Amino acid sequence: MKLETFPKTVFLTGATGVLGGSILKDLLQSTSSRIYCLARGKDLVHCQERVRSFLRVYDANGALESAFLSRVIVLWGDVTQDRLGLSKATYAELQSHTDITIHAAANTSLLLKYKRLEPINVQGTGRVIEFCLGTVEKSLSYVSTYTVMGDKTFDNSVRFQETDYDLGQGFKYMNYQRSKFRAEAMVRAAQGRGLKWRIFRPGQIYGDSTTGAYPHSETQVTGLFYDLFKTAMDTRVMPESYIHYDVVPVDYVSRGIVALSAGVENFFDVYHLTNPDAKTFSQVMGLLREIGYHIDLLPEEIYKQRLRRGEITKNGEPYTSTILKAFNLWYFISEISFYVSAMTDCEYTRSKLETLGVTCAPINRKLIETYVHAGIRGGYFPSPSHSDNHNATRAPVDFSANLFSAEGCPT
Ligand SMILES: NC(=O)c1ccc[n+]([C@@H]2O[C@H](COP(=O)([O-])OP(=O)(O)OC[C@H]3O[C@@H](n4cnc5c(N)ncnc54)[C@H](OP(=O)(O)O)[C@@H]3O)[C@@H](O)[C@H]2O)c1
Repeated sequence: MKLETFPKTVFLTGATGVLGGSILKDLLQSTSSRIYCLARGKDLVHCQERVRSFLRVYDANGALESAFLSRVIVLWGDVTQDRLGLSKATYAELQSHTDITIHAAANTSLLLKYKRLEPINVQGTGRVIEFCLGTVEKSLSYVSTYTVMGDKTFDNSVRFQETDYDLGQGFKYMNYQRSKFRAEAMVRAAQGRGLKWRIFRPGQIYGDSTTGAYPHSETQVTGLFYDLFKTAMDTRVMPESYIHYDVVPVDYVSRGIVALSAGVENFFDVYHLTNPDAKTFSQVMGLLREIGYHIDLLPEEIYKQRLRRGEITKNGEPYTSTILKAFNLWYFISEISFYVSAMTDCEYTRSKLETLGVTCAPINRKLIETYVHAGIRGGYFPSPSHSDNHNATRAPVDFSANLFSAEGCPT
């Protein structure tokens, strides 16, 4: 589908990321726009190579290569630097050309200290806002996250709507979420200075729903949700949990951002780019088991005990992963339980996107198998051992009716 009305010149940040690479692919596929990409690297050539290699993750057969060469201009920069790391002349020229900015750059680590995240996620967004305010259209599509709901994420009485923002949420030990909340506040406040914004809050971004493509080896920050799958496959245990576990394909998120950035009538709108097919964590683990992985779901307290004693192992050997570090932080320092959670509502976004012809692949065996097979091919996931998964401890299969009920979990 071609978006004829799409702004002629786009300034994109984060093109060397999971989402930004897919946004670039969609801009090349469905618009005729010229795209300026801000990227980090050793020098300009390195930046160009990096942007190109991310595009190739999602455009494996190189169908967009000539569009890339004719329509993409890579800029060597950094959102933590004055003028985004660009020379005065380049910055001014870029401002004079840009019709819309899509800001997807961020540090997405859930484990870093706030002072490491703030220069990129908060002050960097501030610089992007200043950049936009100096363009003629003053138009910004800002990529936020549904986790701006902070500690309300684990409150199963909350149904987080697109119109919600400040729920009185706290951010103790939630540094990434705090930084994104603050950045969103800056975007909203800049409306008073003429900024025309749209805010996109993706869920947990997984790979392309058709090919399974995901930049495992290219990203600087480990894909936490993939790391969780791998840890489940390797250690064969996970906590039983009825949190809203979003698996949203990157192509739905990027197509949604591009489609909803095309018009001029929907400024100051917020969109939840989560999967409309809501599932719990235990259901998603159940899909991995159906594919053939032996994964026991342990009561949360038992899982915590094993984690504390270093008994989450692979074939009896000590095991470490980013998600286990995150579990340690969340369980023992933040004292969070993952048994239940809030629900992120995306009905408004879903219906808007449906009218634009953008739909999301449901979370079913086919989707998870697509990701698993792509991960096995890329050497990221181990193959399943079909022989012994029938003994795995299963979560109840009939809890979907109770999902997000007042209690939020099966009794
Ligand atoms: N992944 C998810 O599940 C998820 C969920 C909700 C929201 N989001 C949001 O979606 C956006 C994209 O996330 P992602 O998953 O694509 O992240 P990612 O894979 O970690 O990519 C982050 C991008 O930001 C760039 N970046 C980092 N620091 C920068 C700096 N100082 N200057 C310029 N660029 C910089 C990175 O460049 P380098 O390659 O040089 O590091 C990379 O291109 C972020 O705003 C994130 O908060 C992501």
